[in-house]
Amino acid sequence: MLEIVKRDGLARLCKFETRSGVLRTPALLPVVNPKILLVTPKELHNEFGFGAIITNSYIIKNDTNLKNRAQTEGLHKMLDFPGIIMTDSGTFQSHMYGEVKATNDEMIEFQKSIGTDIGTVLDIFTEPYWTRGEVAESISETLERTQHACDIKGDMMINGVVQGSIYSDLREDCARKMATMNVDVHPIGGTVPLMEQYRYAELVDIIIASKKGLAAGRPVHLFGAGHPMLLAFATLLGCDLFDSASYAKFARDDRFMFTDGTFRLSDMQFLDCNCPACRGNTLESIKRMDKKSRENVIARHNLYQITSELALIRRCIEEERLWELAEIRCRAHPSLLDGLRRLKFYRDYLECKEPISRDRAVFYTGGESRARPTFYRYTKRLLERYVPSFQRAAVFTGNKKPYSKHYTSDFNRVRTAGYTPIIVSPFGPVPAELDEIYPIAQSLFPDIVDQETNEDVKQMMDSFFERMKFEEVVDENEIKAGNVEYDANQIRVRATARYQFGIEATNALFRGKIDLVLSRKTGKVRNVISDGEHILSMRANDGFYTLRPEGAERIIELVPYPKFRVVVVDDAVPYILQGRNAFCQFVADMDPDIRPMEEVIVVDKDDNFVATGRAILTWDEIRSFRRGVAVKIRSGGSEV
Ligand code: GUN
Ligand code: ZN
Repeated sequence: MLEIVKRDGLARLCKFETRSGVLRTPALLPVVNPKILLVTPKELHNEFGFGAIITNSYIIKNDTNLKNRAQTEGLHKMLDFPGIIMTDSGTFQSHMYGEVKATNDEMIEFQKSIGTDIGTVLDIFTEPYWTRGEVAESISETLERTQHACDIKGDMMINGVVQGSIYSDLREDCARKMATMNVDVHPIGGTVPLMEQYRYAELVDIIIASKKGLAAGRPVHLFGAGHPMLLAFATLLGCDLFDSASYAKFARDDRFMFTDGTFRLSDMQFLDCNCPACRGNTLESIKRMDKKSRENVIARHNLYQITSELALIRRCIEEERLWELAEIRCRAHPSLLDGLRRLKFYRDYLECKEPISRDRAVFYTGGESRARPTFYRYTKRLLERYVPSFQRAAVFTGNKKPYSKHYTSDFNRVRTAGYTPIIVSPFGPVPAELDEIYPIAQSLFPDIVDQETNEDVKQMMDSFFERMKFEEVVDENEIKAGNVEYDANQIRVRATARYQFGIEATNALFRGKIDLVLSRKTGKVRNVISDGEHILSMRANDGFYTLRPEGAERIIELVPYPKFRVVVVDDAVPYILQGRNAFCQFVADMDPDIRPMEEVIVVDKDDNFVATGRAILTWDEIRSFRRGVAVKIRSGGSEV
């Protein structure tokens, strides 16, 4: 069973429970060749900290000695590994060498007989050069075999492999059907040749297509991916598990893996690595070693690169900055950059899973950063939800943030003349009243703007001005102060509500006289009082609102179900009323448009108000997980 602990992008930190222990994901399973124990499984566990390994049941089955030992002692004892063991089924051998002399039935029964924790169906490896017809036909066969494996798996977990070659629609369809079966882990298969050929843009197509079809509540394993240069990016795309045979294969060829590529010992001029395997060695000392010792040192080096990169990836998810790490890593190779650039095609899908705000600022790492879903969401919401306060616009080009703090008197000058200040930013147009919301204030860009950003921003400004139908758009320098009266905070509170909740909900929230409570220390808006009722509180860190019970009741009354709602079962209501969080298994229905970290209204099955809180997961995730927090509840009206 899978439980999500933390998320960033499509990445998640999870706890995956198996009968041999809990695996913290993202995780990589080193491939152990049962015939050549280059680094022993025990060392992989105790020294390197790998909680799980993968080995090949087909190799074991075809070796009389190994087969007998595995069936009498069990796999864990034979390999002397105390953690989780996954086995593959022989499919990869069919890709490498052609025929496999075993049936799916035999392979499942054999894997059960040796005590594998997670066995694999004998799926059909769909090659990238296959025709659509060939791919479709073999997917049907793989699905049939998977269903049969589920029927006979007993208490062994099963890998249901998503196949589909490079055909995104076939992949998604295969994934959707796999998701309905009783499998436990979803590897994405058939991708090794693409990775070997550095076809990363197509790899992105495949991962996204598979993710779209799969259920969120099961781990996704990218079969055959184990290069440290790829791990951050693949994790960002929602892969939880990886495996690596290359740490050993590359070592056999005297090749060192790093996060910026693979390098041959004979080509390297210097050894700039301080991992426990390299420490104390020089390039020369490694070159002088006999073949076996050298292979051993390099294999260990490769494993340390993997473990330290995975630790960094986990930290980045925890600190909500995996986008930045993945973008940096994708600069290791132009083909990886192609993969990153491919994400632009999937911005709608990515946006659905993107948290509404983070604790961290957005760091711009290059032109590709603007394809992040957080940029896309801003543009989309601005065009759909923004209503100008004045029908004329004054354009500003300053870059000191927050803008309204640095350009207070200039904003005041143009507003008294009846103009809305619009700042030109790398996000495109930013109306002054939205300058404190995430990610506008919480983002850092270089001062020297690149050509591509310049051109894109110009286009965004044009479409914004066209859409808003301003009567006039002028440079702020041309405007002299006038005598129009306005209240910047009143403009801000409405603009923020429209951006966050949309126009319909804002109309429901704001009625009668609007009073604002300001922070005595900062002068910023804290509470919004409408007709004497405290409806909203503004958060200092991301500039968005937390919804108060009075505000929530107004939305329930005027905005049709299911907008902003999370419905919990009756049994859960008393607990939530006490301020306990709403867990996935107690959610009965939900607004499918809710994004992670959005404000939600918890209601009972008759749409009666129960509590307010923040959604941790989206509806498709909550539906699929049976554990973990779905909504963080705000107890007794205090903020979360
Ligand atoms: N190892 C690498 N790719 C694959 C695949 O597509 N299927 C299986 N079973 N194992 C793999
Ligand atoms: Zn090293």
